[in-house]
Amino acid sequence: MAPLDVVADRIREAHRLTVLSGAGISAASGIPTFRGGDGLWRRVRAETIATPEAFAADPRLVWEWYDWRRQMLLAARPNPAHEVLARWTRSRPGVTLVTQNVDGLLERAGADPIVRLHGSIWHLRCCQPCAAGRDDWRDETAPLATLPPRCPHCGGIARPAVTWFGEPLDLEALDEAAGASRACDVFLAVGTSALVYPAAGLLPHARAHGAVTVEINTETTGASDLVDVALRGKAEEVLAAIDKRLDS
Ligand code: OAD
Repeated sequence: MAPLDVVADRIREAHRLTVLSGAGISAASGIPTFRGGDGLWRRVRAETIATPEAFAADPRLVWEWYDWRRQMLLAARPNPAHEVLARWTRSRPGVTLVTQNVDGLLERAGADPIVRLHGSIWHLRCCQPCAAGRDDWRDETAPLATLPPRCPHCGGIARPAVTWFGEPLDLEALDEAAGASRACDVFLAVGTSALVYPAAGLLPHARAHGAVTVEINTETTGASDLVDVALRGKAEEVLAAIDKRLDS
């Protein structure tokens, strides 16, 4: 049996499927990944942008980078990888979709619910935080009118509500992701280099609890040696091919 058919069978039979997605699922929408050939972290060092220290040193510079990405994302559209995963969240019982992506493309494809491990580039947070502005707020304008943007409550500097290196993940999201990894029959990692923890620990966690583990990626990753089935290919094509088999 071809690996694609095996994976489709496993997913069809699964009571619980947990998917971990990464930047690779947005590549077909024209959004650069972080560590690929033209990856974002190859053009600029992550420490100079995606850390609390970088933001404290130069909030405007950090915001210019996020504003550039927000503009690129606003012009982009979800691709079949987002669409298949979004459809599964709505139509297949027992599916938990966990993402490291902050780009909002899964949400725009209609994914619901979705466990966001690294926050959202479309959410802002007051840095203080002020009493009135404790909660994140949504702002979909790009480019932003002023950089850095300000908290509408206290006028203080706002930051992107994303997880930076050296910061803890949202514990509720992590808890939900870990629980879904423990409980699933099939764990599918798609379009992620599986290098950034704690997200990268979810697949071994699922495997240790008996899940069949599958990877979809154009390249070999840190997870490739661990998984039961490694499907080499583009997420937008492989997911569409699996989805077609599920329907037939
Ligand atoms: P990476 O850029 O590390 O990895 C993207 C993966 O997608 C690579 O393994 C590519 O081989 C693969 N890929 C590229 N195009 C693909 C396609 N069309 N189909 C399938 N796979 C494809 O991105 P992440 O693993 O998501 O965190 O990175 C994890 C975290 O590191 C991000 O959430 C971000 C980053 O720093 C923060 O910003 C905190």
